[in-house]
Amino acid sequence: MGDRKELTAAMFIGVRGDGMISFGSGQPDLPPPREVYQILPDYTGFKYGLVQGQENLREALARQYPRSTAESFVITNGASEALDLALRSIAWIRQKKGDHRPKCLLCRPYYYSYLPLVRYAGFEPVFTDLVDGRIVPEDFQAKVRDCRVVLINSPSNPTGRVEAIETLKAIEKITEDLGIYILSDEVYKDLIYVRENYLLKGPHVVTINSFSKTFAMTGLRVGYLWSLDTELVRTVIEMKSHTSMNTSIIAQEMAYTATTVPKSYMDEQLKVWEARRDLIYEGMAAIGLDLWKPEGAFYVLPRIEDPADFVWDMFTDHKVITYLGEWFGAPDRVRFSYALDVDKIEEGLARVDRYLKHRAKHRVK
Ligand SMILES: Cc1ncc(COP(=O)(O)O)c(C=O)c1O
Repeated sequence: MGDRKELTAAMFIGVRGDGMISFGSGQPDLPPPREVYQILPDYTGFKYGLVQGQENLREALARQYPRSTAESFVITNGASEALDLALRSIAWIRQKKGDHRPKCLLCRPYYYSYLPLVRYAGFEPVFTDLVDGRIVPEDFQAKVRDCRVVLINSPSNPTGRVEAIETLKAIEKITEDLGIYILSDEVYKDLIYVRENYLLKGPHVVTINSFSKTFAMTGLRVGYLWSLDTELVRTVIEMKSHTSMNTSIIAQEMAYTATTVPKSYMDEQLKVWEARRDLIYEGMAAIGLDLWKPEGAFYVLPRIEDPADFVWDMFTDHKVITYLGEWFGAPDRVRFSYALDVDKIEEGLARVDRYLKHRAKHRVK
């Protein structure tokens, strides 16, 4: 166990059992489609694969994205590698043009890997603060002017918000006029409760996606990027050929199989997520917490006083794992993932309620 002053997500990842209730990790607990296992007994491919990704998988994806061919995709080790390669490739392209410290715009709160990835790639981070979990177009427009790339994540981890289509269209226009890259992280595109996903478009849009969330295949590590910017796609493939080479080919075959499952698989999963969303949202509102109702993904981000005490005490005294909002750029909040059964959500909420009531009663004014 770590130290009270140095709470990190690493302390909680993989901690389970012994009555622990984890609202921590953003990993679906539902099963992947049964079809993905069926390839295993006959699978024989053990050689290096194409660095860009297996052709059958890229072709299947090309049928889902407008105006694209298999050439517009690179299959990666999860969305994580797609984000990393895209950022470092953009930085590399800019460096060759003499731009050594380009800026990258982040919408805060952000997914907690964005800031390290942006820094590792050598970008200077610039922030636009969300208001009520939403992008403020005026602030976005003012900040994006100096940047070479912007990261958009709708539906968002950690806010659970889905941006308005007008906002996304305004972002497409501003960035296209200025020739700025958009990295649109759409890993939750199939987990939206309020409308269909809106696919951001433009000559320098890089769409990032993954089989982790939609198909509950986090450990297989299959994600991808899609872009009509051929210079960027070429640079990403070149970089990947010297770093990780091909993404696991057996995992890609399983991902390909996932693309063939009927849409009813996704619809069924969405119903489960929505029921959990309602339960946790209403439960937290009843406790008196201030939070946004999630419109997508599977997170809530309530405002909680003394969040570090809360996260620490809930873990050590009440066996409940939660993540500090500070890791996501939201220092007055705590993030809960609701990727767990309803009975666990109910029990977890009961423990939170007991703790907060006890804390309020014994607090020295
Ligand atoms: C917004 C966002 N992007 C990317 C990832 C990473 O996904 P993957 O498992 O595909 O690497 C996550 C995982 O939680 C996420 O929430």
